[in-house]
Amino acid sequence: MFNAINKCHNVEDFRNLAKRKLPSPIFHYIDGAADDEVTYRRNTESYEKCDLVPNVLRGIKNIDMSTTVMGQKLQMPIYCAPTALQRLFHPDGEIGVGKAAEKVGTMFGVSSLGTASIEEISKLVSTPKLFQLYVHKDQGLNDYLIDQCKEYNFETMAVTVDSAVGGNRERDLYTGFTIPLSLSLKSIMSFATHPAWAFNYFTKPKWELSNLNKHVSEGTNLMTSIGDYFTKMLDNSLSWEKIEKINQKWGKSFAIKGIMSVDDAKKAVDVGASAIMISNHGGRQLDGSRSPFDQLEEIVNAVGDKIDVICEGGIRRGTHILKALSLGAKACSGGRMYLYALAAGGQRGVEIALNNLKKEIERDMILMGVSNIQELSKKNLRFRH
Ligand code: LAC
Repeated sequence: MFNAINKCHNVEDFRNLAKRKLPSPIFHYIDGAADDEVTYRRNTESYEKCDLVPNVLRGIKNIDMSTTVMGQKLQMPIYCAPTALQRLFHPDGEIGVGKAAEKVGTMFGVSSLGTASIEEISKLVSTPKLFQLYVHKDQGLNDYLIDQCKEYNFETMAVTVDSAVGGNRERDLYTGFTIPLSLSLKSIMSFATHPAWAFNYFTKPKWELSNLNKHVSEGTNLMTSIGDYFTKMLDNSLSWEKIEKINQKWGKSFAIKGIMSVDDAKKAVDVGASAIMISNHGGRQLDGSRSPFDQLEEIVNAVGDKIDVICEGGIRRGTHILKALSLGAKACSGGRMYLYALAAGGQRGVEIALNNLKKEIERDMILMGVSNIQELSKKNLRFRH
């Protein structure tokens, strides 16, 4: 295995390895998206709509790719977006991802649907941590999560706003993916043909939704699909007023994750957010939605001087990140780009995946003729017509 992850040079290599290692319901939960997955594909394809225009003969020696976003200095301009259920993919789970992020000096996002507790993460991971709040119908649970993040000194929080109902993830419908996993004949067959994963799953300590299980049974004792969880458990009437109250209660660096329109970006400024993540949830919610990269320029033009704009989703290459930064993103973030690596090789896999991207960014900056990311601008880009 160690060998195999060392031969992964890019996100697609890790994806292929994860596909081999994971039982198919689990691989397709990570890899899948909503409806026809048009938006999921476009999230990456949209980076090919423009080309980079390099400058040469600049004697670039020392590369500084650091950025400051949400008040946090990151040593590389991409961080690990919060994603759910990480111990289902590999026993290293959130702690492994957090430690890998720490090694490269970037931020680490923790989902409300994570499998390690806020307390445990805070004790073991010292890199900047972002908590992704899913606002539940249960107000007591929301207050508890915010209080835990305060008590255990999470640096930043993002409220996800694109999930008032579950997206139509048809791969999950076909495979019958639920949490806890349903033990149908088909899924048991799939576990049997992935013995390394099954060994870990059945012999390592049982994981739970560590931050939710004191308040809700769904996902821990009561089987649910992720789509049904969103529809049933989340606050479907979340409003700007409520977001403002959450921001006030939190009182620290605060982002709104899942903004796609200029109007909403302006409202995010009005409610005092420090950042927005332009995101369509990796194409997992509204299929047919525009890609974050396609929306980036107009949103940066409208609010880029007032709020940090983060471009989330679809990133597979260092050049994608340079393109987003050239249009004014402060940083990028991604989920699958490290989740495949987690599934393929635990913490070590994520370290390799993040280092691969770091090396790409460094090489690409030298080839572009820039020594720090502030030198990147629209002048470096030409869109195809
Ligand atoms: C997802 C959630 C949990 O599956 O973020 O997309």
